[in-house]
Order: sequence, then structure tokens, then C-alpha cells
Amino acid sequence: MARKRVAILISGRGSNMAALIEAAAARDYPAEIVLIAASRPDAAGLLRARAAGIATAVVDHAAHGKDRAAFERALHGELQRHHVDLVCLAGFMRLLTPQFVAQWDGRLLNIHPALLPAFKGLDTHERALAAGVKIHGASVHFVVPEMDSGPIIAQAAVPVHDGDSTDTLAARVLAAEHRIYPLALRLVAEGRVRVAGGRCLIDGAAAPNDVLIVPGR
Ligand code: GRF
Repeated sequence: MARKRVAILISGRGSNMAALIEAAAARDYPAEIVLIAASRPDAAGLLRARAAGIATAVVDHAAHGKDRAAFERALHGELQRHHVDLVCLAGFMRLLTPQFVAQWDGRLLNIHPALLPAFKGLDTHERALAAGVKIHGASVHFVVPEMDSGPIIAQAAVPVHDGDSTDTLAARVLAAEHRIYPLALRLVAEGRVRVAGGRCLIDGAAAPNDVLIVPGR
């Protein structure tokens, strides 16, 4: 089967992007990363992408001012130009309009640093610590117009320790993110994910792949 052509959209450091690039370097990985598009020209991930020899594009949201439609037209144009099949948001800090989301329905993935539906939105680690949860984690989901609300493809859980700071917890979750995003993209690229009634049904997934418990340090 032909490998799926994947674009990764970033706004910053791009560590999830790097994890996906690394996974896709394996011969048997069902997807290839053909484009890294950044919403900011200074996104550090761009340097990493160029070093990996992957095509990059900057679609600068600031250059489009308040014209969200123009920004998304430019983004969509880049995705089409590179014949992209699937799009992964990885620390992409722009909300996408329902029109854009509809254009990529079922082909647009996001990673969120919490066990959805808990802690949607920003500052998830601060809020997890404040809530006193004992388990935290990350989720990869299909994007729907409502923020952080689409069908969940994969989740990873990590323990919260008594002495955790936002930074130590964030680092533990980030390591888990780097494991589940490549897993979730693999499942989607292999055509093993079906959405029914707002839930993802995974064909042939071994149980340990459904939830990863990543021991903390
Ligand atoms: C990650 O924690 C991701 O879950 C969130 O933003 C962060 C991006 O980090 N959406 P990076 O740019 O992938 O290093």
C-alpha cells in the first residue's frame, strides 16, 4: 500500500513533529512526512525540519491579520501543492474554522496534553496539578470544529507524583506524547481507525496499544 503523505503543522519547538519524523524514517512506517508548515516564521521546529531534508512552508498568520479565511486558503494551498493525504497538528496554536476542518474531515489529527475530555484548552498541567488528579496524560484525536473535542484515537496515561511541578509533569507527559502520536498516525495511515457515533473503533489493535501506561521518573 502506498505510504500516506502527511503534513505536520507547527507553531513552536516541534518536538512532536520530530517524533513523527523519526517514526516515519522506519521502512515499514505507513506514512511519510512530506511537508512541515509553520504559522510563525520563527517556529524553532522549522530548523529541525530543514535539517531532516523535509519541505517547509511558512504560512504566517500575522501577515494575514484578522483575515482567517485568507490564512486558511494559503494553508490549504500548501497542503494541496504537496498532495497531502493526512494533516497532523503538533503544537499548532491557531484555531481552525469549521470550513477548514470540514475540508479535512477524518484526515486531521491533533495531540492534546491531557486525558480528554478532561482539561481541554491551555495550561493543562497547571490545572491537573491544581485538581489533584493522580493520573494525567495525552490524547491524539481527530479534529472537529469544537476545540479538543473530536473522536479519540489514542491516549497515554502517566502518574502524577506528589512532588511534581508543572515542569516535571509536562516533561513526563511530553515523553508519552512522543510515543502515542506516531502510534495514532500509524493506525490512521493503515486505515485501521473507523469513526462511529463519535468514537474511534480500531481494527486489530492489540490491547496494550489502546492505552499506554508510561511509568514516571
Ligand atoms: C505539546 O504539549 C502538544 O501536546 C501541545 O503543544 C505542545 C507542543 O510541543 N498541543 P511541541 O511543539 O510538539 O514540542
